[in-house]
Amino acid sequence: MTDFSTADPTLFVCTTCGIAWEDGRRIGKSGGEKLLERLRAIADSSPLKDRLSLCPVECMDACDRGCTVSLSASGKYTYLFGDLTTDDSGLDSISASVLEFVDRYCESPEGLLRWSERPKLLKKRIIAKIPPVAPQG
Ligand code: FES
Repeated sequence: MTDFSTADPTLFVCTTCGIAWEDGRRIGKSGGEKLLERLRAIADSSPLKDRLSLCPVECMDACDRGCTVSLSASGKYTYLFGDLTTDDSGLDSISASVLEFVDRYCESPEGLLRWSERPKLLKKRIIAKIPPVAPQG
């Protein structure tokens, strides 16, 4: 039987959240792209470097709660987070909190983090917590 508790996580980052427009033209990087860059920079210098896949995606249909990210792994809970800052001054702290959550998620066999175990900045930013799919057969 496969031990899913050691499954490596994937963090999906919406790169279409936080796009700025001017005169019908897109300007600069989106908030999601900035968040992805910051997450990559911090993850690359952490023990998560070899475990975490960071995956850019377009829209997770939670646009009114952007920026959004989603965390999942085989056999574990899936989380959708929103209201992540697009403010440059908040990127470091929100990115560090997301990666702290990922770190604790890796330690949990089901990826289930109770309220008290969640980083403070993320406690009210969880939009959904979806149970793992039951193993087939
Ligand atoms: S644009 Fe990011 S969730 Fe829709």
